Amino acid sequence: MTKPSNGRVALVTGASRGIGRAIALGLAAEGFDVVVNDIERQSAQLEAVAGEIRALGRRAWTVFADVSSKSEVQAMVGKAIAEAGQVDAVVNNAGILISKSVDDLEEGEWDAVLDVNAKGTFLVVQALLPHMKARHYGRIVNIASIGGKHGAPNQAHYSASKAAVMGFTRVLAQEVGPFGITANCLCPGIIVTDMGRTNLADKANADRWIEKTALARLGQPEDVAGPACFFASDASAFVTGQTLNVCGGIVLS
Ligand SMILES: NC(=O)c1ccc[n+]([C@@H]2O[C@H](COP(=O)([O-])OP(=O)(O)OC[C@H]3O[C@@H](n4cnc5c(N)ncnc54)[C@H](O)[C@@H]3O)[C@@H](O)[C@H]2O)c1
Repeated sequence: MTKPSNGRVALVTGASRGIGRAIALGLAAEGFDVVVNDIERQSAQLEAVAGEIRALGRRAWTVFADVSSKSEVQAMVGKAIAEAGQVDAVVNNAGILISKSVDDLEEGEWDAVLDVNAKGTFLVVQALLPHMKARHYGRIVNIASIGGKHGAPNQAHYSASKAAVMGFTRVLAQEVGPFGITANCLCPGIIVTDMGRTNLADKANADRWIEKTALARLGQPEDVAGPACFFASDASAFVTGQTLNVCGGIVLS
């Protein structure tokens, strides 16, 4: 059931589908107004997500930007603050995966994955920090991956990008803590989305992942929403610099 407004605004990147969409809707159900971002190409799907948020009784705004572009990110954050009045929480979810062995990987493919997943997270955070520091409040939630801890063949560059997000978050937490801002990471496991299906080429492959998962099932995008809402809310006020696996028990720690 949708909760009443909590007076907070969240920005979610890569929110037109998959995990980002589920997190945006989860935040709306928790009482957040939500600014949803994606690339221009996803505009129809992003507008549909904004409509779903409004149907839950919350305000929603769409902002387009490629998170790997500093100028686009600066403009996006400026527009988000101008239109919503404030941004209390950000979920850096936008990401890409290109499956290639180290042997075959092109330099441009390495750069593309690192640019969106790692640099994109940094650029969005950097653009938001003056606003969050001025308000002495912020919740930063970065979507990494269990792939950044363990990894799988053909994903060395993806694994490197997600390990970068975790390292970035640990140091960020120390820098921004004195300003009332927390920064934490989520590491999803195998989640059934357009991207997740890359790991699920056939039934045998899916079954192998299920066997490795304590909860004996694949994850759904909604499985990531609850932990994201926790890190985006005041329930996690004394939690920062942490990385939480949301993987049904593939990685146990
Ligand atoms: N699905 C999984 O199994 C899984 C596991 C671990 C981590 N993750 C991470 O979760 C996040 C969401 O993944 P998903 O499975 O929902 O993937 P997805 O491909 O379904 O969605 C990714 C979204 O990001 C957007 N996006 C891509 N590049 C962008 C850019 N440059 N700027 C703005 N938006 C951009 C896409 O348009 C899309 O809407 C990613 O960071 C991914 O690495 C996914």
